[in-house]
This record gives sequence, structure tokens and C-alpha cells, in this order.
Amino acid sequence: MSILEMSKKVRDIQPSAIHRMSALAAQIPDAVALSWARPDAPTPEHINEAAIRAIREDLTSRYSPPPGLMKLREAIVKKLKRDNNIEASPNEVLVTTGSIEGIFAAILAIVNPGDEVIMPSPNYSTHELIVRMSSAVPVYFPTIEEEGFRLDLDALEKAITKKSKAILLCNPANPTGAVFPEEDLRKLAYIAKDNNLFIVVDEAYEYFVFDGAKHFCIGSMPEMKDLVVENFTFTKTYAMTGWRVGYNVASPKIMEHIMKTHTPMTICAPVISQYAAIEALEGPQDCILEFHKHYLEWRDLMCERLDRLSSVFSYQKPLGSYNMFPKIIAKGGEDSAEFCMKLLKEAKVATTPGAPFGPTGEGHLRMSFCSSKEVITEAFDRLDRYFGV
Ligand SMILES: Cc1ncc(COP(=O)(O)O)c(C=O)c1O
Repeated sequence: MSILEMSKKVRDIQPSAIHRMSALAAQIPDAVALSWARPDAPTPEHINEAAIRAIREDLTSRYSPPPGLMKLREAIVKKLKRDNNIEASPNEVLVTTGSIEGIFAAILAIVNPGDEVIMPSPNYSTHELIVRMSSAVPVYFPTIEEEGFRLDLDALEKAITKKSKAILLCNPANPTGAVFPEEDLRKLAYIAKDNNLFIVVDEAYEYFVFDGAKHFCIGSMPEMKDLVVENFTFTKTYAMTGWRVGYNVASPKIMEHIMKTHTPMTICAPVISQYAAIEALEGPQDCILEFHKHYLEWRDLMCERLDRLSSVFSYQKPLGSYNMFPKIIAKGGEDSAEFCMKLLKEAKVATTPGAPFGPTGEGHLRMSFCSSKEVITEAFDRLDRYFGV
């Protein structure tokens, strides 16, 4: 018997190119992966120990309150003030199952079917999936590649229609590594305010900013309070991808509704991970500096190695995150997916094709430098040999 037809909305969604490339890379035993944007380091030991203690003390058998443990929300409030210049109270903080659930809960709470959500291009491909799964329509405006993928705010204004409901972006940006200047973010905020649009900002890479660039949160603007959902995660900062814990910050008027989308999705974030997150915030913070130092070193190494391949790629030096988005200048007739496939099969280097990151992503590929000096060196040695450099 044939299977009944699944949701059109879901059928239309293609499996993630990022996961597809990594799955294909896993089938090629000696492939080197620059495709995964996830920290390679283990979670710091003091965070693991706190989770183990919580299990031993039987603190993890039951649900927490849906918004999260009060102790964790209080620790988050302190961190928001200290590091993000955001004033919030614990009832304005929602602990989520990774940042992804937080963004999903926020978009679901904001949009009606058919509403448009505006995003810069290129942008983190999962954001588009969240928008589409929420029955909203993704609309893109370009960034200016030659200016380090800066936001094109004139294009943003032109993209606004009667159906626009929100702007969704990540800063620092995945896949480009752009860090949007405060001046541009303030302008974007006023454009949103003038046009009655919500803003959802994914701040996953907040601590990984280089060369004196400053990370600015729109949520720190008091006049934007009732329009902004700020979203953060422990994933990148503390190498905690597997723990699935992040948080949203929004005014009570917004949060009241996000709570209604959060609870049926997850009830509460994993309680063991919430205990680990308390320790992450209250324990030593050296791991952030250490990761930062490594990412900076590996970014510089990747840029140096890309310089040698200047006949193949041009690139903008990323000021943040641990991703970069080189443009392919020496390809034949193939698109970025075919180009990546060729690199994987023939040079045995896994990268991610640019097309899924938005309409201006085609012709690029994403390379992540969160791996190690050895992996980056080996990958580029192979690319040098492959391209005959
Ligand atoms: C911009 C961005 N946001 C969110 C995530 C996922 O975060 P989490 O693990 O907290 O769901 C990623 C992961 O790569 C990311 O790059």
C-alpha cells in the first residue's frame, strides 16, 4: 500500500545540504571535513562534573518549570547585563532546547500563515526552514559582499511589503562571519520600528568576534523592547552542542505568547543541561578565551591558505563566528553543490555548498575553521595539490 501524502510544506523541504555533505563525507573514510560548524573541543570538565553532581543528587528526574530553572534564569540575567548590555528580569528569560527551539518558538508565536519574514542573504539556512515550517514566507535582502557582507539597508527597506511581519538574522553571521556594525543594527532597528516589524536575533556566536569588531545587541536598545526577541545559546560558547540548551529574552508581552509555542514543543529544556548551563555561567570562563584564541589562529591560517588559492577563491575575511564564505572564481559550468561534490570525491575535502544560504549564496562555499590546525592544514594541502598550486 502506498503511503498517504505527507504535508506539502514538509515535502517541499530538501534535506539540509550541510548534513548531506557531512553524511557523504563520513562515507569517504579519509575525507577531511571543513563542513561542520560545530566546536571540536569537548565540553569543559567542570561543566560535565556539575551535570554528574545534579544526577547524583537526583535533581534531574523531573521537569523544570517550562521557562527553566529560576537559578539558571537569574544567572542568565546577570550575564545579559554584564556582556550584552541587556536589562532583563528572570520572567523575560525562557530557557530553550538549544537556540533552534527558541528561534522556532519565537517565529511560531509571531507569524500568521502567509506572513513574510525578512532575512539577509546569505543567512543561516536553518532559519529559512523555521520560517517555512511556521507557514510563513521567507523573503531575502542582499548583503554587500565587497564590504564584508554588510547589510544592504536600502534593499531591506525595498523588501518590506504589507505582509512583512519580522526580520530574522544572526550576528555574528553564519555563513559569512560578518559582524554587523552597531550603526547598521540601529538603522535596521528603526526601519523595523517604523514598519511595525518584530526582530529576532540569533546571537549564537556572540563571543567569537575578532580584530576589534564590536558585537552589539539590538535588545540593548530600550526603545526596541517590545519588538525584539534576543536568542542565545551555550552551544558555541562552551562547546555544548549535544546538551541542547539556549535561551530567549523578550519583554513579558512577547514572552507570554512564546511560552505557548515553547511548551507543546518541548515542555522544558533538558534539566540536566540546565544544571550544566548554571555551572557554565557561574564557573570559570577561561574556555571562552581559549576557544577565541584558537578560532582566531585558525581563521588566520585558513585565510593564509586561501590566499595561496587566489586563482580559485576570493574571500572576505570574517570578523566573527568560525565560518567563512569564499566565492568560487575558478569553477567550470557547475553549481556550488556540484563543485563541493567534486572537491569531496576528487580532493577528499568536505565543504558546504553556498546555495542553501539564500539567493546570493550560489557561487560560494562555506568553510568552518572550528576544527584544528592539523585538519585545516591537511585540507588545504589537498586543495593545493588538487588545484595544482
Ligand atoms: C547561527 C546559528 N544559530 C544556531 C545554531 C544552533 O544552535 P543550537 O545548538 O543552540 O540549537 C547554529 C549552529 O550551527 C548556528 O550556526
